[in-house]
Amino acid sequence: MERPGFGDFAHGAHPTYYAAPPVTRTAPVGTSGRPLPLIIDSDPGLDDALAIGLAVAMPELDVLAVTTVGGNADVRHCTENALRLLHAFGRSDIPVAEGAAGPLTGAVVRATGIHGETGFGRTVLPPSPASVHAEGAVALMARLLRESPVPVAIAPIGPLTNLASLIRLHPELLDRIAHLAIMGGSIGEGNTTASAEFNIYADPEAADIVFRSGVPITMMGLDVTHQATLDGAASRRLAACGTGAGRIAAELVDFAIERVGKWYGGTSTAIHDAVAVAHLAVPDLVSVAAYNVRVDTTDGPARGRTVCEGLSYRMDRYGLAANAEVGIRIDPARFQDILVDAFARLP
Ligand code: BDR
Ligand code: CA
Repeated sequence: MERPGFGDFAHGAHPTYYAAPPVTRTAPVGTSGRPLPLIIDSDPGLDDALAIGLAVAMPELDVLAVTTVGGNADVRHCTENALRLLHAFGRSDIPVAEGAAGPLTGAVVRATGIHGETGFGRTVLPPSPASVHAEGAVALMARLLRESPVPVAIAPIGPLTNLASLIRLHPELLDRIAHLAIMGGSIGEGNTTASAEFNIYADPEAADIVFRSGVPITMMGLDVTHQATLDGAASRRLAACGTGAGRIAAELVDFAIERVGKWYGGTSTAIHDAVAVAHLAVPDLVSVAAYNVRVDTTDGPARGRTVCEGLSYRMDRYGLAANAEVGIRIDPARFQDILVDAFARLP
């Protein structure tokens, strides 16, 4: 029997959550005249690579650093991938610092089934002349937050281990974080388990610390990132955009499509992480709703679930306040155009 792909409701199923009404975003957005300073905390990773490319190509964003975390692959692969990617994108001047190899507690979870053993499928990029920064990820984030004349946005697009350590070790710097644009979680079903999305499942205790921190958060979960897909035709657009970066992106996307094809017959792949980055550069691309998000840290079948409460009468009844804006809608065609245009501007 043919099995439906993620985000494909053509077979008659419908989402089972009650969508909260959209609200006006409060996340900052950069402009080309005043780019938003941004740290990307990532586990590259196929979709991470597209997110990093998008960030460095957008004049609305000023990427201060890429910090790495073990997630999709071993952290040493993720660090090397970040260095090589930035080199390929002509930005080996952006510092790369390595962070946590595994979660705060519990077992290490990887997503090599989708991303391949190295995190980059079959793609091998030339080495970068730059080497990993001497400071670790958390120390570098702390220094950049301290030294920046204006608060800095962070896009955590891997497990939240580094962010939790930053929050624990440097509570004095929390008001230097302009916003966290997180890729992770889901209002509805998960992808790693029926309950949990990968980035949250890989370190639920860290996610719990982050969502309780009081730092302003936008959560781009599967509900919106599964609308942000690229198929074979979109990949061919990237490959034909005339740059080496576009060809790299297309190769990574093709690998992901091949893997989801084998897994469940999918013909497109969600570029999850790029949604979080795009939100900080494009004011009206993603619509958001206000939710109270709690993370399940129990050891049962709901471990890693983001429990998202957005109905006002229930929030009143249980005394819950919103602690995140959660992505609910994105225009998929516009998202594709933004990615292709961005990769056409890279080397
Ligand atoms: C998230 O998990 C990872 O595999 C992707 O890079 C993305 O950050 C999607 O669930
Ligand atoms: Ca990722």
